Amino acid sequence: MRKKVSIVGSGNVGATAAQRIVDKELADVVLIDIIEGVPQGKALDLLQSGPVEGYDSQILGTNDYKDTANSDIVIITAGLPRRPGMSRDDLLMKNYDIVKGVTEQVVKYSPNSILIIVSNPLDAMVQTAFKVSGFPKQRVIGMAGVLDSARFRTFIAMELKVSVENIHAFVLGGHGDTMVPLPRYSTVAGIPITELMSKERVEALVKRTRDGGAEIVGLLKTGSAYYAPSASTVEMVEAIFKDKKKILPCAAYLEGEYGINGYYVGVPAKLGKGGIEQIIEIRLTPEEDAALRKSADAVKELVSIIKV
Ligand SMILES: NC(=O)c1ccc[n+]([C@@H]2O[C@H](COP(=O)([O-])OP(=O)(O)OC[C@H]3O[C@@H](n4cnc5c(N)ncnc54)[C@H](O)[C@@H]3O)[C@@H](O)[C@H]2O)c1
Repeated sequence: MRKKVSIVGSGNVGATAAQRIVDKELADVVLIDIIEGVPQGKALDLLQSGPVEGYDSQILGTNDYKDTANSDIVIITAGLPRRPGMSRDDLLMKNYDIVKGVTEQVVKYSPNSILIIVSNPLDAMVQTAFKVSGFPKQRVIGMAGVLDSARFRTFIAMELKVSVENIHAFVLGGHGDTMVPLPRYSTVAGIPITELMSKERVEALVKRTRDGGAEIVGLLKTGSAYYAPSASTVEMVEAIFKDKKKILPCAAYLEGEYGINGYYVGVPAKLGKGGIEQIIEIRLTPEEDAALRKSADAVKELVSIIKV
């Protein structure tokens, strides 16, 4: 039997994630949205790509949570995207109400699912889904670090004119202005980038990574990035379904790791069939530790506003 993934929010990230999942035949997909017709139309369109692309995955569009029943993974992308000049944090209260309501419905029909949250502000929204769902922490995961490190990898590849496949990048912390890219753990064929470029260039790439989302929002004018965000989400889905034990940066609920207790913050995590199977702790320099703490404080501030 094929696995089942439900995607809440059939907008840019949701529909593109659906496309990537069926392209890889990872699962059957249910697309759901509050807007009538949109998930149905996009699902039908994707289904009709099957004969050309050669996939047999089923795709259903719906406005009824009953159709999401017994999903193995539920991806939550519902919410409002950022507009130019709008910070992720401006979205906080609007998306809190949406994610809370969505999680209640999802949990009712798929009590054994793994939740991957994408809606922004990411760290606060995943904390919302965790508290509202009552699921164990292993089964509620936030997507941000894979995207942030993909952006960093892209910029490193552009700078050094090498294959993106040679590059590993390491990004910790919250998704936002306080994310913490770690250059000394970011490597090209195993060589730290600090050996391959000047401090100034490293800092310039770190800055571009940190502002990576805003750069795209500024160019698009309406809406925000979705190709790389959907690719990043589907890498997590694949790691879970294939039980790959892949270490990816994820927003994970910390209980003492990195000295942080009771909050979702981006850390390296091992993803397998149980969701987050382990959090990898590394020793940080005092500077990195201070940056991570600042990042965690930003998450705490948002969480204190929504009181979850
Ligand atoms: N974590 C990340 O790294 C990351 C990256 C990209 C986007 N995002 C976030 O993901 C979210 C989606 O982005 P997008 O570009 O797909 O936006 P979008 O506007 O294209 O799609 C969002 C969809 O959610 C739907 N929606 C709204 N309220 C809903 C509800 N109560 N139930 C079901 N569906 C509902 C909307 O109708 C819309 O179709 C945004 O919050 C965005 O900021 C996060």
